[in-house]
Amino acid sequence: MKRAIYPGSFDPVTNGHCDVVERARKLFDEVIVAVAHNDEKQPLFSLEERLDLLKQTVGRIDNVRIAQFDGLLVEFARTEKAAAVIRGLRAVSDFEFEFQMALMNRKLEGSVETIFLMPKEEYTYLSSRLVKEIARLGGDVSEFVPGIVIVALDKKFKR
Ligand code: PNS
Repeated sequence: MKRAIYPGSFDPVTNGHCDVVERARKLFDEVIVAVAHNDEKQPLFSLEERLDLLKQTVGRIDNVRIAQFDGLLVEFARTEKAAAVIRGLRAVSDFEFEFQMALMNRKLEGSVETIFLMPKEEYTYLSSRLVKEIARLGGDVSEFVPGIVIVALDKKFKR
């Protein structure tokens, strides 16, 4: 059983995240989409809301499981007996931080490999941060996120 973990804040899940999950699920027997608990960022959506949005989107895919984790990612990977950590790589600007994180995780736990997957080109500029900003300012995000996320954003911004 080859298992991978796709960790992140997912605040909220975007079409770019969904695209990465679709790619990862073809490479592994099981993909765990894992929402980090100890995020120092102030999320717009609570942990429960983020988990719920994931469950209602990529969580419906056969070999995809939604989970949460506290503490170190490598510890969670060890507990789940995961062979790999998946991260999406959109542009060169992502690279430095991702490279640092991958090598640090390797130092902490040598058996977990980080695999970078590139989402569709049309999602290269997409991020949860920009989606939230556009939605907050009343812009149209329907091209960037699943339908239920649009509804959730509308509720957050009381429209
Ligand atoms: O979606 P994000 O915010 O880019 O995800 C970052 C995340 C959650 C993958 C990263 O912050 C993380 O792994 N947090 C868990 C704590 C941890 O293991 N930190 C050491 C990383 S080298």
